[in-house]
Amino acid sequence: MRIGVLTSGGDCPGLNAVIRSVVHRAVVDHGDEVIGFRDGWKGLLECDYLKLDLDAVGGILARGGTILGSSRVQPSHLRDGVQRAKGHVEELGLDAIIPIGGEGTLKAARLMYDSGLPIVGVPKTIDNDIAVTDVTFGFDTAVGVATEALDRLKTTAESHQRVLVVEVMGRHTGWIALHSGMAAGAHAIVVPERPFDIEELARRVGERFEAGKRFAIVVAAEGAKPKAGSMEFDEGGKDIYGHERFAGIARQLSIELEERLGKEARPVILGHVQRGGTPTAYDRVLATRFGWHAVEAVHRGEFGKMTALRGTDIVMVPLAAAVETLKTVPVERYDEAECVL
Ligand code: F6P
Repeated sequence: MRIGVLTSGGDCPGLNAVIRSVVHRAVVDHGDEVIGFRDGWKGLLECDYLKLDLDAVGGILARGGTILGSSRVQPSHLRDGVQRAKGHVEELGLDAIIPIGGEGTLKAARLMYDSGLPIVGVPKTIDNDIAVTDVTFGFDTAVGVATEALDRLKTTAESHQRVLVVEVMGRHTGWIALHSGMAAGAHAIVVPERPFDIEELARRVGERFEAGKRFAIVVAAEGAKPKAGSMEFDEGGKDIYGHERFAGIARQLSIELEERLGKEARPVILGHVQRGGTPTAYDRVLATRFGWHAVEAVHRGEFGKMTALRGTDIVMVPLAAAVETLKTVPVERYDEAECVL
């Protein structure tokens, strides 16, 4: 068989582990040929690819980023995108394409499948917000990075008796905020799923100082918003691909809290550091399993599906189900964290 692989959308620790796993399973075990498209769907649209053999994937298991490069270009962005991609699949004699990506990429994958292409998807995102899989690789690494940062920030916050408002990634969901906040013992967490009341947040942080504590850590998912009318809030805008470009919840919250509490408050934006660097062992294993199962699905001719983790098993689920809705943090989880507003 001839299989094409691509990585699309925001990168994520573990992408290289999937690519390596696909090549090992397909080339070594099945005798397939694998090619990798450069920079996501863009590579397929422009017929820009490289041969992926054992040498090409040597030593990449623990490497962050993606050796194939990524972009946010989707076939539907171009008028003739889908037709062009189909033409290249035919020209190259591909029996299957394995796109590895998040929400946008999986939507494009579904569109390509619906237009007749043999697609098997692999979900990825540090945000952990893809429905129908219990976990996505990249999340564990991101939570680890954010937790380490929060641990470090606690010591400097305490030295200066400050409130630190730490912004973590999470456009639509608060998974990273919740898990890193719980792991580091944050004093308040705000998430996109539940708009917060600024007075309530200030009261909680204020009570901590009144109880004699010398600092406070607030974790804010970048997509968190205040309740309508609770404070003046700049939501930001959109980038050229229609993705949210946030105006900075940490900056806005630190100003509000400083005013209300009379305590120094500083914003800390963790940003892309959460996506960079080497994946954790958990993410490497999950990514490797996804790659292996994607190749098996290709050989069974099980197209229009993606790999997913259910409990401890890897299963195949329809792409259609995966893109219907996002996996938000269930309300019961807020109680367990004890400090989600
Ligand atoms: O990968 C998902 C994500 O990490 C979001 O949480 C974040 O808003 C976005 O990517 C940032 O993407 P970009 O690299 O395009 O700024």
